[in-house]
Amino acid sequence: MKAFSALFFFFFSISLLLHSLSRSEEELPVGYGYRLRSSSTSSSGKYLTADLEIIQSSTIYGPDIPNLKFLASFESADRIRIRISDADRARWEVPETLIPRETPPYHRSMLEEDRGGSLFLSAPLSNLDLKLDGSTPFSFSISRRSSGEILFDTGGSLLVFKDRYLEISSWLPGDRANLYGLGEHTKRSFRLTANETMTMWNSDTWSSVVDQNLYGSHPFYMDVRSPAGDAHGVLLLNSNGMDVIYGGTYITYKVIGGILDLYFFAGPSPEDVMDQYTELVGRPAPMPYWSFGFHQCRWGYRNVEDLEEVVEGYEKAGIPLETMWSDIDYMDAFKDFTLDPQNYPIQRMKPFVDKLHFNGQKFVFILDPGISINTSYSTFQRAMEADIFLKRNGTNYEGEVWPGKVYFPDWFHPNTSTFWFREISAFLDLLPADGLWIDMNEIANFLNPAPVNDLDTPPYAINNAGVRRPINNRTVPVSCTHHGGTAEYDVHNLHGLLEAKSTHEALLKITGKRPFLLTRSTFVGSGRYAAHWTGDNTATWDDLAYSILGMLNFGLFGIPMVGADICGFSGDTTEELCRRWIQLGAFYPFSRNHAVNSSIRHELYLWDSVARSAKKALGLRYRLLPYYYTLMKEANSKGTPIARPLFFSFPEDAKTYGISTQFMIGKLVMVSPALQPAATYVNAYFPVGRWFNLFNLSETVVSPSGEYVRLESPEEEINVHVRGGSVLAMQDQAMTTRLGRKSGFELLVVFGSDGTAKGELFVDDGEAPEMGGEVGRWSLIKFTGEMDGNGAKLWSKVEGGRYALERKLVVKKVVFLGLDETSAVKTTAASVNGKEVSGGEGARVRFDGRGRFGIVEIEGLSQLMGEEFQLVLGG
Ligand code: NOJ
Repeated sequence: MKAFSALFFFFFSISLLLHSLSRSEEELPVGYGYRLRSSSTSSSGKYLTADLEIIQSSTIYGPDIPNLKFLASFESADRIRIRISDADRARWEVPETLIPRETPPYHRSMLEEDRGGSLFLSAPLSNLDLKLDGSTPFSFSISRRSSGEILFDTGGSLLVFKDRYLEISSWLPGDRANLYGLGEHTKRSFRLTANETMTMWNSDTWSSVVDQNLYGSHPFYMDVRSPAGDAHGVLLLNSNGMDVIYGGTYITYKVIGGILDLYFFAGPSPEDVMDQYTELVGRPAPMPYWSFGFHQCRWGYRNVEDLEEVVEGYEKAGIPLETMWSDIDYMDAFKDFTLDPQNYPIQRMKPFVDKLHFNGQKFVFILDPGISINTSYSTFQRAMEADIFLKRNGTNYEGEVWPGKVYFPDWFHPNTSTFWFREISAFLDLLPADGLWIDMNEIANFLNPAPVNDLDTPPYAINNAGVRRPINNRTVPVSCTHHGGTAEYDVHNLHGLLEAKSTHEALLKITGKRPFLLTRSTFVGSGRYAAHWTGDNTATWDDLAYSILGMLNFGLFGIPMVGADICGFSGDTTEELCRRWIQLGAFYPFSRNHAVNSSIRHELYLWDSVARSAKKALGLRYRLLPYYYTLMKEANSKGTPIARPLFFSFPEDAKTYGISTQFMIGKLVMVSPALQPAATYVNAYFPVGRWFNLFNLSETVVSPSGEYVRLESPEEEINVHVRGGSVLAMQDQAMTTRLGRKSGFELLVVFGSDGTAKGELFVDDGEAPEMGGEVGRWSLIKFTGEMDGNGAKLWSKVEGGRYALERKLVVKKVVFLGLDETSAVKTTAASVNGKEVSGGEGARVRFDGRGRFGIVEIEGLSQLMGEEFQLVLGG
């Protein structure tokens, strides 16, 4: 560790020197850093404060802040907060109204101990410990109580705190740390690779460009330490621009403002980390049931007839279509809350939307933040009256987006939410859409504003757009001011979050239902309000593969409803690529086909082979919707992603850590897509267990300890497997979720080698604002299966059965899978709650020796889901 520290210090000095050299400034003085002047625990013993003072100052990136206040608190058994700020002056911090933080008095009492001159702090029941190092310059470390493992350690690195440059680093065990997160970026691999700089500066750009800052900022990572697989999380809650450098053996944050507000989440399982993280930043918003259906969008639909033809195209082809979308084409001259009178007149649009609703389908349209500067445009007039626009030098800042010259609403202004609510409300009165899509909210601006003051040219240039472009590049200038005087400089990255919050609240108030909202720009906590798509990808094989990583990352960011533009947004897709894309995209939590106006059309019915693939893949998705929805409930209560990396279920299997080409839906289903042109097979990793192909239930992979398996991947098929040990509740495939939800349930009971199976089902009306809540509005059914030499059993436990009973939800079929062929279950006798089912009530029991294991299907049941039952197969 000592040798490391010296090297580390050397490295950082060099890194700072390099920057300083390029600015032809002085070197860092020897002994640069802060020293601990004093520390004290609050009289309640619930938090610790320490005073730090600069030892040797430097003027690189501006003068040092001489005195810092260090605050440590054990906020829960699994969370420590370390806050370092200016001791003498308040600085910008992410507002409490956006992410509420615990303020003193804290709940835990600390215990202090002197360990060789260092101050060691722990708290009863806390799973993390904190150490303030006794040496100079000041440093601290966080460790895991159970193992003593150090998770974060600033020893031997620089702590820099200037007005507009903050730096902090931690050592990482290069051979054992596996980091994920720190986005939004398109990456080649899900696990971060060493020597990457992750820049956080929300930006309107192409997501097909790898390793550049995209639309959102999430300074959060999860680290899974090999070989045990214990995971923890680290959040730097800061909304300013930053570069995060992951060097394999260290991580460095270089931030251009705000404070250092670090949160450590103890895990130790990846699910625990997500639970702890979303407890702080907000649980993912529940999404309406219908939004799990398939969506079709395109920029460039010419008129209402065009939309109608597309809806008809899907219907004729027999491909499910839940939601039709309108991009900016519907607007009159790209003005929000208007309709193009020629091509999208209200007299045609209203019946179009009504018909969609009649058929159980939905409609979503886009809104952009820029309000066209046009004195005869009533939305503009109202905004001017309310005086809600963003200002620069005291006047409304004029930018340029699709409608030409625009002003941008300032979400910090107390009148903005009311203005926005009224505009949405009035427009929805006219055109009753089911959800909203907020785009270009980084904020995108087609101008490159020239600097007017110091703020526009920060001393440290973050690696914007991968080439240290000015931070005002294609956005509103950071010298703009918000209500109350806040500089855009500090809140740039919050725009999308604020807009999503306002829009979500507006929708909830207007409809009284659970909002569906899709946002492009996000920040920590955006999952409370919105779904996200991965932005403007390209119709390439690379982007097909990267879509998995994008999706998995947003799961970690607490935004589980996520997907990529299926078949590729820009560029012309091909039949083969589009076919493979729908095979994969059918399993994204948010499944939407979308394209740019200049590309060829790629609705799923346009090529026969794509249509066949879509029917097959979406067919399975629709059968799995009750499962997706149950996972939404889990996400909403505990933050667990819907689409998950393999290591979430197998953290002890280090071979899963590097996997970027497969993913799990929940813990039970694994998707192994073909991602290469002309692929006839895929090399898929199968963690330990028995896995059954969900399309045919017969192709089986038995993986004794985790191995790669070569799977056939015929051109119209994707490999989707269910793991032994699962009970999946499924419904019939259908053209809409409304129809699908009317069918009885089929329970697929898949035994693992230990002869057990488990699963659950959450049901509610799919649109109540909360998932859960009042008794009678939902039911949760837990299934357990067991198999032995005499037969097999399945039983249920029901919580809140009233909802399922009132809706008369029934189990109509049970399929036992993974039965041992030699077992007594070959018998065709079965009973439910002691009553014989074979023959009796028209139920049939059928044994099928397909594949390596036996299958028994019991059909024709009408067992009420809301009632606990026991089904016994065999003697
Ligand atoms: C940019 C969005 O990312 C894209 O999806 C949309 O089609 C265009 N803006 C036009 O609104």
